[in-house]
Amino acid sequence: MNILGIETSCDDTSAAVYDGHCLKSNIVSTQIVHRHFGGVVPELASRSHIQIIVPVIQEALNQAGLAFSDLEGIAVTQGPGLAGSLLVGLSVAKGLSLSLGIPVIGVNHLEGHIWSNMLDNPDLAPPFLVLIVSGGHTQLVRVDDWGKYRILGRTRDDAAGEAFDKVGKLLKVGYPGGPAIEKLALEGRPDAFEFPRAFLDKESLDFSFSGLKTAVLNQLRAHDEGWMLSNRKDIAASFQEAVVDVLAEKALYAARQEGDRIVCIAGGVSVNQRFRKRLSDAVVPEKIRVLWPSPSLCTDNGGMIAAAGHFYLASGKSSSLSISPMPSLNFA
Ligand code: KG4
Ligand code: ZN
Repeated sequence: MNILGIETSCDDTSAAVYDGHCLKSNIVSTQIVHRHFGGVVPELASRSHIQIIVPVIQEALNQAGLAFSDLEGIAVTQGPGLAGSLLVGLSVAKGLSLSLGIPVIGVNHLEGHIWSNMLDNPDLAPPFLVLIVSGGHTQLVRVDDWGKYRILGRTRDDAAGEAFDKVGKLLKVGYPGGPAIEKLALEGRPDAFEFPRAFLDKESLDFSFSGLKTAVLNQLRAHDEGWMLSNRKDIAASFQEAVVDVLAEKALYAARQEGDRIVCIAGGVSVNQRFRKRLSDAVVPEKIRVLWPSPSLCTDNGGMIAAAGHFYLASGKSSSLSISPMPSLNFA
């Protein structure tokens, strides 16, 4: 069953074809216009999606060696995300569904991140744990079964990726901050600054990163820009270490609590090599396996939406043509 996946929830315009076994194509066009503004500008994002979505879909079909008539279903991100951006993907998906006479299914973006792990580990089978760490979300999710999810913990303020982006702004490394901070941190000392780790109370699987961001801000306020520039490698490394300490320890608590032997990570922050190493080291004594998707599947992409949508469409489920964006969609 050839499923076209469309993802336009934020600033990546993406389309992919997945047939239930093979990801035949996965085209991602990242909008660079936002870099001038230090963050995503919603109006510009939706306009950019409109300009590029049709060529991106055409390229996904070309790379898969397929025509529109070979498609058997369409999966599209319904939420969470920016309303205007989601609307572009949904409108195109509904138009294609109507004109091709094939079903469309609205997909939860976060569920897509979970499915991204299956694409690189086809034998992955529930139950398992997933830590979704992206620019908009930080959630520990228990996958009891495909389609059955329980949120064990979430951030009470900033998402992990958001903290990277905000600290990136303070360190003047441009947007997005995550990749730039990881690069700076390679040459910095992770123990140079003692930044706070918010573990909250011992039992809690929730996260909080706003205090950490404020601690970096306070450190910078006490000095001038020259000091920042000559110390930013150490600040980046110390900040990154504080984030990955909390992420790794909470994932470990959750795995212990649920008795899980597999922990998956997903979302843009899971590209971070230090995070992968820190988490892999933390679980060694417990004989827990850590899985992660390849970098192009960690960040937003249509492949993960096609994979999640394939699951529902193959079991006969579909959405009506009246579906609309759900900017705050979460797991039930
Ligand atoms: O999953 P994603 O592409 O989009 C959302 O759904 O938010 O994640 C983007 C986030 C950004 O906050 C970005 O700074 C962060 O992922 N990110 C990273 C790295 N690469 C991307 N954070 C830390 N280290 C990285 N290497
Ligand atoms: Zn995402």
